[in-house]
Amino acid sequence: MPSPTKRVQFGDFRFDVSDEVYEPAEDSFLFAENLEVASGEVVLDLGTGSGILAVLAAQKASHVVAVDLNPYAVRCAKANAKLNGTRGVDFFQGDLFTAIRDGVRFDLILFNAPYLPSEEGEAESWIGRSWAGGADGRLVVDRFISAVGAHLAPDGRVLLMQSTLTGVEATIRAFTKSDLKATVIAEQKLPFFETLTLIEAKPQT
Ligand SMILES: C[S@@+](CC[C@H](N)C(=O)[O-])C[C@H]1O[C@@H](n2cnc3c(N)ncnc32)[C@H](O)[C@@H]1O
Repeated sequence: MPSPTKRVQFGDFRFDVSDEVYEPAEDSFLFAENLEVASGEVVLDLGTGSGILAVLAAQKASHVVAVDLNPYAVRCAKANAKLNGTRGVDFFQGDLFTAIRDGVRFDLILFNAPYLPSEEGEAESWIGRSWAGGADGRLVVDRFISAVGAHLAPDGRVLLMQSTLTGVEATIRAFTKSDLKATVIAEQKLPFFETLTLIEAKPQT
């Protein structure tokens, strides 16, 4: 039996999400509200989930590549692109950059990452893997930061969503080690001493 589907609205766009896929939440909306794509840019949306950021980016980009580890998410994002009449997006299943050929570089790389500290076993379901970042929340974030430079165009930029629970200074330091200069460009306070943080990183000049 297909799992139940919820419909989420963002502006004029609609996203149907089944139980196995991350339902767009505060972090997705903060990301979406601060997403600026220049006309003609080539964009990579890692961890596309419902496809919300890929669909929005595709309104201006010349091409979007959307990737997720979760095969249900890839199917869901593809269906949502169709639902919104969005063209110019290619979808792949893969772990971070594994689906991207060596030498392919993007003007803009987006990642609303799994960034929350988690306990053993919590990343065993597809939904668990959408938020669980290991004991300190940095498991996927740090792997992403150490690999992202190889896929970024010389004038490109990275947008990474995480939370203060993951350590914003640690992320900025990790970007610096990868020769990228990172700054916080948007924040949103949540209950219980957590703030969502959208970080932009660019090659050091
Ligand atoms: C917080 S959700 C964000 C979904 C969507 N981008 C949004 O903003 O609503 C994180 C997504 O990353 C995916 N993901 C987790 N680890 C991944 C990895 N190593 N490589 C690719 N995708 C991954 C999850 O399956 C999930 O869809």
